[in-house]
This record gives sequence, C-alpha cells and structure tokens, in this order.
Amino acid sequence: MLWTRKHLLGLQELSAGEITFILERADSFKEVCTRPNKKVPALVGRTIVNMFFENSTRTNLSFQLAARRLSADVLMFSKTGTSVAKGETMVDTARNIEAMGVDVMVLRHGSSGAPWKLAKNVSCAVVNAGDGQHEHPTQALLDLYTIREVRGGIAGLTVGIVGDIAHSRVARSNIWGLTKLGARVMVVGPTTLIPREIEKMGVEVCHDMDLALRECDVLNMLRIQFERQGGGNPFPSIREYKHMFGLTRERLKKGKPDLTIMHPGPVNRGIELSPEVADGSQSVILRQVGNGLAVRMAVLQLVAGVE
Ligand code: CP
Repeated sequence: MLWTRKHLLGLQELSAGEITFILERADSFKEVCTRPNKKVPALVGRTIVNMFFENSTRTNLSFQLAARRLSADVLMFSKTGTSVAKGETMVDTARNIEAMGVDVMVLRHGSSGAPWKLAKNVSCAVVNAGDGQHEHPTQALLDLYTIREVRGGIAGLTVGIVGDIAHSRVARSNIWGLTKLGARVMVVGPTTLIPREIEKMGVEVCHDMDLALRECDVLNMLRIQFERQGGGNPFPSIREYKHMFGLTRERLKKGKPDLTIMHPGPVNRGIELSPEVADGSQSVILRQVGNGLAVRMAVLQLVAGVE
C-alpha cells in the first residue's frame, strides 16, 4: 500500500491495513538498529522538532534518537526555559518554529486534542506524542509491535489493559489498535477508573483481576496517574488497589504460564507491579522501549513523505 496521510494523530482514524503497514515498516528499522552502524540516510536534510509541553523520558528520547538515526536535523523544545513561560501560545510558538524550515513537529501536550489543533495551524507534518487523556499512538504502535513479536501475531489473543483506564491515553490508543487487529480486549480495574460506556469501543469490562489472569494472554499494566486525579481518590487506599489489582509474584501463579506482562512506563514500583514481576522473565517492559525506536523511525519516515 501507499502511505497517504500527512500526520499521525491517533489510532482511531487509522485502518487495520495502515497500522500493519507501520509495523511492517518498523521491522526493517529493527534490523537497522542491530547493525554496528545504526544510522541510515533516509531523512538527510530534513528537520524534526520535538515539542514537549509535558514531562517525558521514553517518548522524548526515543523520538530524538529515531530522528538522529534517520540522519535528520533535530530541534528540542520544552515548556521550561522558552517563551511559553512568557505567555506565548502553542500555535504562535509552533508557527515561529515552522518559519525556521521544519518538516515534522512531534508534539506532547497536556490538553486532549492539541495535536489536531496544531495540524490545522501549520503546514508541516504533525505526530502526536501523547495528548492529555486522549491518545498516545506511537506508544500503542510499539505495544502492538511487541505483542506481535513476542506472541507471533495479535488476532485471536486476549489482552487485558489493567488499572487507570479513565485517565489513560495509552489505554485508548491500545484499544483502537488491538480491536482493529482482531484481539479480544478486556479493561480491568475498579469501577471508579473505568469510564462508563467504554464497551462501545468494543471491549469487555472486568473488575476481577483473578478472572482477567485466567483469561488473558497479555496484560498491559497501566500506571496509576495520580497527577491527573485532581486531588480526588478513585479508590480507598493504595494498599487496597494493590490488593485488588496489583500484580505480585504470588498472584502471577493464577495466570497462564506464558502470560506476557507489559507496562508503558514509568512504573509505580510496588503498586501496579511488584519489583520481581516488573523485572521477571515474563515482563517485556524494556523490550517495549527498545521497539519504540524502530516504530518511531518508521513513523517519522512515513510522515516526512520519504519512501
Ligand atoms: N510511556 C511514556 O509515554 O513514557 P514517557 O512519559 O516517559 O514518555
């Protein structure tokens, strides 16, 4: 197929064919990443700016390294230390950066919908690196890539997404991607952290972690996003959350022996996952991070319009 999209904003708008196309393109970059010389000339002369209005370690560094591996020039922009602190708007900031001759803007922003607004106001390509509680498409793509790699495919698997579904852009993008590629998806957590009517996205709701362990081939353990809960408590105590939904070595025995354990990071160690599970043989957390590089190289090459 031919890639015809200018931007990568969310997985809701992508077809199964487009998602598969990105994953297959990432396969060739994964091979590049194993070579002694990991750099290719795909984006020589192109300029990519990482605009991060919200904190990030993995996504920011991964996009930065992906752009450098593709031989692009890379600009870094963050909220602190720039004229945003003097009151300049996101759109004014972006237009000024674009005037320097930028080809791709990678945006992380705390407001849901910000990448769509940016795409309407600039002529270059825009990639969503996580917007509010809405979408995080490249995280979901690297999750899909990792599941496909570890399990040999996605269709027919049962994937549990556990925890803070309500505040999670990772959950939303994963749900779109997994259901489009034919997985059965269970969202697992307390009623207070699962949005009403989420079944309309094609998922099953489960409030029983032991049931989810029996059913699932893959568990994606989400971070409890304390910073997004506006000071309210969605569960009586962290101790109770751990008891009900935390994955410990003991509880893991109730799951399938080949259960794959994922987490988008950053991990609240000892809450979603005990350290032994996070670092154990069934965890693919660092593999996810490694695969993110190949996936983001594929995305940047495609939106830059380079074949
Ligand atoms: N998974 C993820 O988005 O991590 P960062 O916030 O560190 O980028």
